[in-house]
Amino acid sequence: MTAKLPQPGELDPIETASRDEIAALQLERLKWSVRYTYDNVEPYRRKCLDKGVHPDDLKSLADLGRFPFMTKSDLRDNYPFGLFAVPVKQIRRLHASSGTTGKPVVVGYTENDLNNWANLVARSIRAAGGRSGDMVHVAYGYGMFTGGLGAHYGVERLGCTVVPMSGGQTEKQVQQILDFRPDIIMVTPSYSLVIAEEFERLGIPPEEISLKVGIFGAEPWGQGMRAEIERKLGLDAVDIYGLTEVMGPGVACECIESKDGPVIWEDHFYPEIIDPETGEVLPDGEQGELVFTSLTKEGFPVIRYRTRDLTRLLAPTSRSFRRMDKIVGRSDDMLIVRGVNVFPTQIEEQILREPRLTGNYQIVLTRDGHLDNVEVRCELQRELTGKVGRGAIEEISRSVAHHIKTLIGISTRVQVMDFDTIPRTQTGKARRVIDQRPKQL
Ligand code: DLL
Repeated sequence: MTAKLPQPGELDPIETASRDEIAALQLERLKWSVRYTYDNVEPYRRKCLDKGVHPDDLKSLADLGRFPFMTKSDLRDNYPFGLFAVPVKQIRRLHASSGTTGKPVVVGYTENDLNNWANLVARSIRAAGGRSGDMVHVAYGYGMFTGGLGAHYGVERLGCTVVPMSGGQTEKQVQQILDFRPDIIMVTPSYSLVIAEEFERLGIPPEEISLKVGIFGAEPWGQGMRAEIERKLGLDAVDIYGLTEVMGPGVACECIESKDGPVIWEDHFYPEIIDPETGEVLPDGEQGELVFTSLTKEGFPVIRYRTRDLTRLLAPTSRSFRRMDKIVGRSDDMLIVRGVNVFPTQIEEQILREPRLTGNYQIVLTRDGHLDNVEVRCELQRELTGKVGRGAIEEISRSVAHHIKTLIGISTRVQVMDFDTIPRTQTGKARRVIDQRPKQL
C-alpha cells in the first residue's frame, strides 16, 4: 500500500477550501436543488404549497429551515418512482432498501448521479488512506443494496483493483484474501468480525493478513468495536456512512489521519441536525436527528430528508468539511427499557470494555408482567472458551452488568456464553436485538 496521508494536490480543491468558499458553493447548489425539486417532483411541490414556501424564499443557507421535511413515508407513499425528478428512461440504475416493514424504498440515479457517486466513494477511500494501485476487497453485498455496487465503482474510479466478492461464503473470502493479498477491505463491521474469526480458526495471526485498512459502515459501531476489529485483523478501521435515500455509501467518510468521525462531503450534501420532537434546527455540537439535502442529485433529489440517525455535527479537522460524530443509533432502533432509552451501541461499548469478550452480542428483551427484562448475551474469546472457570465467568458477567447499570441505568442479566454460540451475520448487517415483548396496542 502506498502513502496514507494526502500529499499536496491529491485532494479535490474543495476538500481544503475556506469555509466561505464552501458556504458560497452550498448556497448556489442549494438554490438549484430546491428549485429543481420543486419544479420536477410534484409531491414535494405540494408540500411546499401546503407550508406556504417557495424556492424564491431561499436566500441564505439558514432559510432552508423554513422548507418542509421529506421522510421515509413520503418514499413509501410514492412507491416506486413517484419522487423521481426525471422520466424513468433517464434513470441508469435503481437501488432499493428493504427495511423491516412495508414496501421497500426505491431510488434511481442518472448518469451524472452515478458519476458523482463514484467520485465521492473514491474520495472516501482516499480519505481512508487508499491510493491508485491498491487492491480493494469488497465484501458488502452486491445487488439492490447500495453497499456492493456503490463501493465497487468508487474503487475503480480511484484507480484501484476491485475484488467484487460480495457478502457470504466466509471461507472463500478468507482464501481469496490470502491468495490475492488485498490492501483494503470494505465490509460491515459485524461481518468483518466473522472474517476475523475464520483467520483465527486457520491459525493465521493478524500480522500475516495483508489488509492495512478496513472501511466499515452500514450499521452502528462504537470505539470498542473499532479497537476489537483493528486488533483482530491488524488494520486501521475507518468509518464510512451513507444511506440509500441520500445516495448509498460515501455520504461521509472518516480520514485515517484523525479517525475522528466521518467527514461529510458537504459540497454534495447539506447536513442539518434537528430536534426529532419539534423539528427545530439545532446548533452544531448538539445531538439530534441528522437531516440531509442533496445539492447535486438529478434522479432522486432529497430536500431535508430525515434520516432518523442520531448524532451531532462537529467542527472540521482533517478536511474543511464538518464531521459527524459516530451514529448513536437510529431513532427506530432505540429500546425503551423500563422507561430508560437505550441504544444497542451503548451496551456494545460496555461489553467491549472486557477484553475476554468478543464483539458478537445479542440483546434479548422479554416482559414479565409489566416489567421488561433484558438479557445481554455475549461470548468469550475463542482461546478462552473451555479454559476459564465458573468463577471467572460469573465475575465477567457481574462486571459487565455493573457497568451497564451504572453507566446506562438499566438492570440486565449478562449471560457469558462459549465462543461461536451467537448466530453470525453471513451477508451484512447484524441482528443485535431480539424483542420478544408482546406488542403494545
Ligand atoms: O447501509 C449504505 C452503506 C453501505 C453505508 C455500505 C456504508 C457502507 P441503507 O441500507 O439504506 O444504506 O442503511 C442506511 O444504515 O441510515 C444508518 O442507520 C446505518 N448506517 C450506515 N452507515 C453507518 C455508519 C447503507 N457508518 C442506514 N455508522 C443509515 C452507523 C450507519 N450507522
